[in-house]
Amino acid sequence: MIERPRRLRRTPALRRLVAETRLDPADLILPMFVKEGIADPVEIVSMPGVYQHTRESLRKAAHEAAEAGVGGVILFGIPAAKDPRGSAADDPNGIMQVALRELAADLGDALVIMTDLCLDEYTSHGHCGLLTPSGEVDNDPTLERYASIAVAQAQAGAQVVAPSGMMDGQVAAIRDALDGAGFAQIPILAYSAKYASALYGPFRDAAECAPQFGDRAAYQQDPANARESLREVGLDLAEGADMVMVKPAGLYLDVVRQVKDSVEVPVAAYQVSGEYAMIEAAAANGWIDRERAILESLVSIKRAGADLALTYWATEVARGLR
Ligand code: PBG
Repeated sequence: MIERPRRLRRTPALRRLVAETRLDPADLILPMFVKEGIADPVEIVSMPGVYQHTRESLRKAAHEAAEAGVGGVILFGIPAAKDPRGSAADDPNGIMQVALRELAADLGDALVIMTDLCLDEYTSHGHCGLLTPSGEVDNDPTLERYASIAVAQAQAGAQVVAPSGMMDGQVAAIRDALDGAGFAQIPILAYSAKYASALYGPFRDAAECAPQFGDRAAYQQDPANARESLREVGLDLAEGADMVMVKPAGLYLDVVRQVKDSVEVPVAAYQVSGEYAMIEAAAANGWIDRERAILESLVSIKRAGADLALTYWATEVARGLR
């Protein structure tokens, strides 16, 4: 026998030397929820260890992330009151904007402060856009709302905006609005390939944004389709996206790889709430080794081609890597 692949697997030092993929804290992005009008942070039942933050606890947790070397945070705001047009989303005194101003003043450039740009956390019906009288999500009027939200978020200190609503033309509308308001330097991280996934369940508890009727299948993608993601990515890049995202991550590693091979911009993948909940739940039952499963899930996301991973474990994993 001449070829013996096992030679390079014999010791931990050898394995470390030849590892093809490495996790780096700077590649991790921590999603965080800030809720208006609560006195203390509230742990999310289906996501143990993840909180709806107060403004105060948000700042503390963001500091901890920065100290651990995490590359960025992405913020989700949960307003105290919702209405059909999601008025709090672009209100300068809405929870997102207030929390952003505080974070930006506090953290400076310690990490990149990003915002999820969508309406579902703010609408009373829980959909990602405005509705027609018959209850369909109305694409083009929704773009005007997104444009206004982008400007409000940039004014409050967002350093990257990340549109997640899957409306056609949303990147172009947001780019145009940002440029027109003097924010030509603010990058767009487009949730380009976003699937209508069952794995968002726990998030909808966290952000209190489950659709009050129907589902999101008329705007988010069918899990059966991969080529469609390349189309979405291509359109977003043509509209001016600076980075693209695939979401969820773990069940869509083939899509991550195809996107990576087809673009020249950074590719992000979002390890979503259900991916977090599945590993935490199995680990809590003693059915899998929690730390190993977390690291394996993230190494696999990077191996598939993601440059950046959004993960609720960002701070913990970053600390472990230090
Ligand atoms: C929409 C948005 C969602 C998630 C991120 N942005 C929910 C949805 O599309 O229903 C899900 C994230 C997760 O599950 O962790 N604003």
